[in-house]
Amino acid sequence: MPDRAASRPPLDREALARASGWRFEVVAESPSTNADVAARFREGGQPGLALVAEHQTAGRGRLDRTWVTPARAALTVSFLLDPTGVPVGRWPWLPLLAGVAVVEAVRRSAPDVAAGVALKWPNDVLCADRRGDRKLAGVLLERVEAGGRAAAVVGLGLNVSQAADELPVGTATSLALEGVTVERTSLLLALGDELAARVAAWAAAGGEPDGVRSSYLPLCRTLGRQVRVQLPGQGTLEGEAVDVDRDGRLVVRTAEGERHVGAGDVVHVRQAM
Ligand code: BTN
Repeated sequence: MPDRAASRPPLDREALARASGWRFEVVAESPSTNADVAARFREGGQPGLALVAEHQTAGRGRLDRTWVTPARAALTVSFLLDPTGVPVGRWPWLPLLAGVAVVEAVRRSAPDVAAGVALKWPNDVLCADRRGDRKLAGVLLERVEAGGRAAAVVGLGLNVSQAADELPVGTATSLALEGVTVERTSLLLALGDELAARVAAWAAAGGEPDGVRSSYLPLCRTLGRQVRVQLPGQGTLEGEAVDVDRDGRLVVRTAEGERHVGAGDVVHVRQAM
């Protein structure tokens, strides 16, 4: 098999070092940038760090899944954030906010696919069209505490140049498979800008969700669909996804009335037939 990594350009470390807003660090390899950033925080690291791996070898996904990407084919990055002034009870909005930031960065960087880039609640980033929904990117948010301090690690995995045989499942996609060539450094800078600006606005509002919620709702493809929600254990609930409430929970209209489910309470949300 040809060495595909060799044909893929590396990130431009100098351009990233000049960026304002984040202290970008690029490493050749990391098992998991989320795990590394959490460790750095425990060792006294400060918010503002953005750790990027050219090759992430044991990436973690939501709900104990894995996140697999070949070298230089994707963006695998974790941002260390301290949403100062945002009460912990509002933090569940952070992964949804991060999803909005990814969508907007992709739309800016790849206008040809912009119209189809959307979110599946809570924060899967999709390319969606008549052919169906294909997952382009995912967000894993982890809270880390050390020495009386708390921070959030926002991990983003975004498929850029993978071929179909380099994706873990048939329902995944990459920007290349969607027909666009995007240079990873400028895409990463756009991601950093979108995330920083959105976190700053949200924190300035004390974590009040109205601003982020009004950005989120129009991007959320789950709304208006019939869904089957698998809850931990054997429970499921089925109905129409009608809203995302002020706590970031999905509101499902079932035969028994409206149910509000949080991302942490849900194993899967699937489209019901
Ligand atoms: C998901 O399951 O959709 C979330 C995937 C998140 C993957 C990213 S890649 C960078 C960061 N480091 C990790 O180990 N995971 C996240």
